[in-house]
Amino acid sequence: MSVSVRIVADAAAVGDAAAELVIAGLGVRDAPVLGVATGSSPLPVYAALERRGPAGRLGLGRAPAPAPGEYVGRPADHPESYRSVVDREVTTRLGLDPSRVAVPDGTAEDLGAACRRYEAALRAAGGVDVQILGIGSNGHIGFNEPGTPADSRTRVAELMPSTRNDNARYFPSLADVPERCITQGIGTILEARSIVLVASGEAKADAVARAVSGTPDPTCPASALQAHPRVTFVLDTAAASLLDPARHGDHALH
Ligand code: GLP
Repeated sequence: MSVSVRIVADAAAVGDAAAELVIAGLGVRDAPVLGVATGSSPLPVYAALERRGPAGRLGLGRAPAPAPGEYVGRPADHPESYRSVVDREVTTRLGLDPSRVAVPDGTAEDLGAACRRYEAALRAAGGVDVQILGIGSNGHIGFNEPGTPADSRTRVAELMPSTRNDNARYFPSLADVPERCITQGIGTILEARSIVLVASGEAKADAVARAVSGTPDPTCPASALQAHPRVTFVLDTAAASLLDPARHGDHALH
């Protein structure tokens, strides 16, 4: 299997390059399914898709757009819930039908049942055509923290202290950052037909290097993506700064 790496100048260029890959990947079906991600890294991708107008939307209004997770114990209308972030940053911009955005129910009394319902919704949609992903500074994808098995499914997971610290900037204080979430498992993510991971900035350089170099290792969950046949890391030069330029240039890695 191979991981493709594209290195571009800055975060805006990451957005443009990733948008092209998303459009190409979504072109495969009449009503394609776009797996959206939260966090700051994918924002330039949504902006680039929005700038492309109808071409960037590709009939998405008809299709479900699953979000990869949800915090547990916060109301869906909390400003930092995945539901709210996706509505604000993606649904409105890309003209998606909000009722078709699938987000796990982090307020459900039976969280296990909420996870199973979410997996069933993904299957009913025919799977994800293109999954956009960010990467945590410790290598997490979705909220799959280090140590998560590569065959994990959607489940309740604990956020590591470093992830809560990283995400504290979105909340009034660290104490307000949820401790648990529902996340797609790594095995769930790997079922997407293609995956576009975006990263920019030096803070991601170590995680990116561990994800694409060497063999898959659960201490860096993103390294499990090496097992996927169609995954591209779109990086700015800072996020790519710890890659060996001779090996990890703008080409596919084998
Ligand atoms: C969160 C999300 C991830 C995201 C990561 C990085 O923990 N669960 O999906 O990739 O943060 O976020 P950012 O892109 O803002 O650095």
